[in-house]
Amino acid sequence: MRVLICKDEASAIARAADHIAEHMAQRSDCVLGLATGGTMLPLYRRLIRLHADGLSFASVTTFNLDEYIGLAPDHPASYHSYMRKALFDHVDVDPSRTHLPRGDAADPVAEAADYEARIARSGGISLQLLGVGRNGHIGFNEPTSSLASPTRIKTLTESTRRANQPYFGSDETPPGYAITMGVGTILSARECLLLATGSAKANAVAAMVEGPVAAVCPASALQMHARTTVVLDRDAATEMKLTDYYHHVHPDGEATRFD
Ligand code: GLP
Repeated sequence: MRVLICKDEASAIARAADHIAEHMAQRSDCVLGLATGGTMLPLYRRLIRLHADGLSFASVTTFNLDEYIGLAPDHPASYHSYMRKALFDHVDVDPSRTHLPRGDAADPVAEAADYEARIARSGGISLQLLGVGRNGHIGFNEPTSSLASPTRIKTLTESTRRANQPYFGSDETPPGYAITMGVGTILSARECLLLATGSAKANAVAAMVEGPVAAVCPASALQMHARTTVVLDRDAATEMKLTDYYHHVHPDGEATRFD
């Protein structure tokens, strides 16, 4: 794992955005795996600014990690809505190349299998963007998810539903189930980029980077991926033990040539 510790949130966002922009510039057949959550909002704002400066999404294909079961694409708290508001409506991406699982599918099991097949048909994800939940989840792969799992339905933990309550109205609670890319799906991406900021993520980050590879922390499966970059601010890095080493290898979170 390449662990980049940036001095603050703004530098972490800039580092992650530059990584994505460089990836897009290097590949004409770029397939981005996209993530949702509060952490990603400033990153998408930064990508929109880069778009204003010339970064084009016109030939990019996107696949989001997950969607709540029961929410139609026009539900304000759906990840479809999130992506339109946070990114898609502000860049030149072709809407027909953007993909999210349909939370309102009549048969969510079939929808999950079809989503996995669509990812494979696209040629596979070239760069998967990820956040991490406070309990170590990636996508909606909650603790004890199979580390080889494909896209499927997962039952959300109460803590994850509570953490996502702010996106819902006061008279509404987050759904109990989601369709999510599996940990195996995520590990099939050619490259992964995980962004975590703020002290609330410090324990999950330490377990992910320095803990054992274990289903109880699904993000730890990224230790088995040959090309994963973890971009952190200092607050998210406080619980790791080898921070001096990460700073030595990557001063100020610079992506130096050798890890
Ligand atoms: C949700 C998403 C995850 C995301 C996580 C953390 O559960 N399914 O993909 O990483 O939230 O979100 P936040 O950035 O708001 O802490």
